[in-house]
Amino acid sequence: MKILPIENLRGEIKILGDKSISHRSIIFSSLANSTVEIENFLHGADCLSTISCMKSFGVDIEIVGEKVFVTGNGLHGLREPKNILDAGNSGTTLRLLLGLAAPQKFLTTFTGDASLIQRPMGRVIQPLTEMGASIVGRNGNKNLPITVIGAKKNLRGITYEMPVASAQVKSAIILAGLYAENPTTIIEPAPSRDHTEKMLAAFGVEIEKVGNAIKIYPAEKLFAPEKIVVPNDISSAAYWIVLAAVTKNSVVTIKNVGVNETRTGILDVLKEMGAQVELENLRESGGELSADIKISSSKLRGIEFGGAIIPRLIDEVPILAVAAAFAEGTTIIHDVGELRVKESDRLKAIVTEFNKISRGSFEATATDLIIHGGKEKIFSACKTYADHRIAMALAVFGAAAGGVEIDDSDCVKISYPNFFEVLKWEK
Ligand code: S3P
Repeated sequence: MKILPIENLRGEIKILGDKSISHRSIIFSSLANSTVEIENFLHGADCLSTISCMKSFGVDIEIVGEKVFVTGNGLHGLREPKNILDAGNSGTTLRLLLGLAAPQKFLTTFTGDASLIQRPMGRVIQPLTEMGASIVGRNGNKNLPITVIGAKKNLRGITYEMPVASAQVKSAIILAGLYAENPTTIIEPAPSRDHTEKMLAAFGVEIEKVGNAIKIYPAEKLFAPEKIVVPNDISSAAYWIVLAAVTKNSVVTIKNVGVNETRTGILDVLKEMGAQVELENLRESGGELSADIKISSSKLRGIEFGGAIIPRLIDEVPILAVAAAFAEGTTIIHDVGELRVKESDRLKAIVTEFNKISRGSFEATATDLIIHGGKEKIFSACKTYADHRIAMALAVFGAAAGGVEIDDSDCVKISYPNFFEVLKWEK
């Protein structure tokens, strides 16, 4: 696919429902005993993988137009899947469902696509095993395929200090903790997205947060709301926020964006870089904050950041690297080694492919990313590594510079199926 340069972005851009919240809305509703209507669900391939896996556990899930209706059989009503569950490209599906499968008294086997089978799963298997689960996987219990062998007795709650800040690992332990005999405490090195904690609290689960520690009490039953309205995905909005910031004569509004503070690191960074970003109509729904985001063409400057802010913008590093390439001066992003184990090795993808558009702009160490802004940008043919966020960041980079050709546009279906239709949309 060829993307040509654009400018003068003006008007309102529509984005889709939040991927993280969509996954959780399906999984948690599946554990209640009533029918839950889910509005603004993200019908991306990852969330559809979650639906398909939950159906294999015997949950009744119906897609009616844009809406999804989930009717669970209760916390203890999951059934043994008759076949192998395929999590596709979705780390969230796999890691959360490993946590859910761990306490069940039946066998569950998982697999996934070419990317997911490479990704590290020891980080989930290890704490779940400490809780008493029996889990085996390829490569010394580190990779897919993975089988959760039915638990013979109830899991025990543990205190677990997570070596990496990961909402997926945290959520897996929380889900297992719901079924444990005693409370579980999880300590995070830095706060990761807290949609699980917020939504489970809304489902009546007793869950406490003290500093970076989360304490989860075993549950008897989950009480679902009649309806869940998923806010729009700030990780999808990020592409238009950066495109509007770095192109001339642009003023764009994106409505109903989830602005949970564990996800808004990108806004903090862009503001520090000098971007004109405003939040309007701040409101709360189902424990999650949302707002309209207004962004205008901005003159950006390079900055240095890392540490606790990283989990708050982990999926936005590729698009922030694009923003930094248009800034004056150098941007240094520390502590992003986790990007090496996302849907692709994103640091490698950025250095190899983004440099084709702007030579000598991007450098990486094992854990840091350095971007030299303001260099020349040319039309180039780039590879996406079948990674949705690399594809979208490359598309924005090309659109804001001299154009780009990407080898695979299909992979955006993971999180933003109509991304290219929106990019084409003439206002
Ligand atoms: C997600 C958590 C993040 C993020 C992923 C979605 C989630 O992964 O990168 O896209 O929904 O919990 P980690 O928690 O493993 O960093």
